[in-house]
Amino acid sequence: MTGAASAQYPAVADEKFLPPDAIVERAYVQGLPAYRELYELSLSDPDSFWSEQAKTLTWQKKWPSPICKYNLDVGNGPVHIAWFDGAETNLAWNAVDRNVEAGLGDRVAFYWEGNDEGVERTVTYSELKSTVCRIANYLKSVGVKRGDDVTMYMSLVPELPAAMLACARIGAVHSVVFGGFSAEALADRILDSAPNVVITASGTMRGPKPIPLKTIVDEALHICEGKGHTVQHVLVLEQLPLSDVNGSMKPGRDVMWREAVDSQPDECPVEWMPAEAPLFKLYTSGSTGKPKGVLHTTGGYMVGAMVTTKFVFDIHPASDVYWCTADCGWITGHTYVTYGPLLLGATQVLFEGVPTWPDASRCWSIVDKYKVTIFYTAPTAIRALHAKGDAFVTRHSRSSLRLLGSVGEPINPEAWRWYYEVVGGGRCPIMDTWWQTETGAHMITPLPGVTPLKPGCATLPFFGVEPAVLDEKGNELQGPCEGMLVIKRPWPSMMRTVAGDHKRFEQTYFSAFKGYYFTGDGCRRDADGYYWITGRVDDVLNISGHRIGTAEVESALVSHPSCVEAAVVAVEHAIKGHSIYAFVTLMTGAEPSDELRKELISTVRRVIGPFAAPDVIHWAPGLPKTRSGKIMRRVLRKIASKEEDQLGDISTLADPSVVQQLVDLRGK
Ligand code: WT7
Repeated sequence: MTGAASAQYPAVADEKFLPPDAIVERAYVQGLPAYRELYELSLSDPDSFWSEQAKTLTWQKKWPSPICKYNLDVGNGPVHIAWFDGAETNLAWNAVDRNVEAGLGDRVAFYWEGNDEGVERTVTYSELKSTVCRIANYLKSVGVKRGDDVTMYMSLVPELPAAMLACARIGAVHSVVFGGFSAEALADRILDSAPNVVITASGTMRGPKPIPLKTIVDEALHICEGKGHTVQHVLVLEQLPLSDVNGSMKPGRDVMWREAVDSQPDECPVEWMPAEAPLFKLYTSGSTGKPKGVLHTTGGYMVGAMVTTKFVFDIHPASDVYWCTADCGWITGHTYVTYGPLLLGATQVLFEGVPTWPDASRCWSIVDKYKVTIFYTAPTAIRALHAKGDAFVTRHSRSSLRLLGSVGEPINPEAWRWYYEVVGGGRCPIMDTWWQTETGAHMITPLPGVTPLKPGCATLPFFGVEPAVLDEKGNELQGPCEGMLVIKRPWPSMMRTVAGDHKRFEQTYFSAFKGYYFTGDGCRRDADGYYWITGRVDDVLNISGHRIGTAEVESALVSHPSCVEAAVVAVEHAIKGHSIYAFVTLMTGAEPSDELRKELISTVRRVIGPFAAPDVIHWAPGLPKTRSGKIMRRVLRKIASKEEDQLGDISTLADPSVVQQLVDLRGK
């Protein structure tokens, strides 16, 4: 908020990467004036803008006007959001049957690539339809009805999106739990939504490591029984022989996929669902409290997923091969694997494995194998691959690529440049998409044929999204500014409630600033009206009265050639209030030294300002991350303040052993 803080990234902010002609020529929206015109329309006449988009999909019953009814102001009664209310549709029909009816049955829906090289399958749209119908018929045979919950705990095999679509087909509500969560975390999520059916697999490999999914489900269900909930049916896909992962079947409860599903009829009528019927719950990884079930509904989510996938990735389904590396256990996998691409009839790669297995060239070998044109991943993956060096990338051609995407956290300019220059060969614009589990779809993002890019910047709002920047008191700031990011009106794919806890929904998102949706993120708006996400405001540091986003300091540290990743937290400081404590992971080959420590600190002083200089650099071979790759700063704060005896629940950490490593390195 100070002059110095706003002067960050000075060189970068001036640098713009214009969309290449070849990208503009084929884009659905071409040039900033065309974007501005459509954007203005989306705000001034949402009925006509969204009707125009929604009518490309199939609706059993059309929506009346107005297209959106809402109250976001807790002062005016309960928060309430409804889109297309009164209409009826079905997600599975639109994502699968509609494409088959249009003659695209033989088009590939999924090129599936397993964890291990050489393990692969191709699924066409008609094959997908049969699978979805069989699973739907199985679910009906065990009594699942409209509105019932079904939990899935699997790796990314084609059966997972198919099971999600099977739920959508019959109006059941899916809750996918990432197949890397612990038994306890799975149990919490099952207890919250109390399903009668859990769908899982025997087990799978993640990198070199076997994951005994079925055994973990057994443990979770045992915990649930202790707490009063009994799941009646467990459907098991025998991905690995069950005995290889020491799994067992419980008679009467557990059934094998090949017995229960393969024998079902491959036709199943769809349930036409009200636009506001629940579609899925997705639990956000807990930084505080118990996991929150973010609830999304049918019509608005469908339209939001389809429209953002179309415009942001500029998918031309007849020629593009799209690949989003996210697992269906996260919102990115829901919107940009299961729903968005299929709603457009696109062909996509589904990848079960990790980018570094068997080595750091896996992604680029897959890109070449399937001639991937659009590649969407997370900054944490980009940094991990960057650290391994360019040779893994450049040994593959990647000539099919034309567009790149990034999601999940602010992408530091260095990672951005490497992604742009080395991975994309300087030809492929990067869509840095800002959004959240709660928003359901992209909110602030470039468009391929429109937006001049600035490295590390999410740029401009998507159609229908009206952001504002507030100061602490809730005043809207104008022009270039820095503050809290809020959204002023509902958009179609917005979450509707926290499952079973509407008060928590209102409390979390609508009580800080009346009448606005509060994102929890800080941001800066520059002179071009571009939004720079500075990170969660719960991670904001206040150093001598200067407000500094953790992401800004981290970005500065990572700009040092020896630093591959950094995470900063605030620790109490007698004079400054707080001081900055930085955990730093070095590039392979770089060694910790006092000299390097000084260089890192002076880099931050140079990039942001002296007030932002970390007091401590803590060498970190690894950082505590959730399985989705999010750094758990809560854990780092405890380590920094020598309170590791009060770590709380660390069951969601991908690798809990990093905690002890970091404790051992304190003061070194
Ligand atoms: C939080 C939401 C959205 C799907 C994956 C994460 C951060 C996300 C960006 C971006 C800067 C980003 C925000 C947001 N975030 N994308 N492009 N630039 N920050 O979903 O777990 O719900 O996390 O991720 O802080 O609030 P999520």
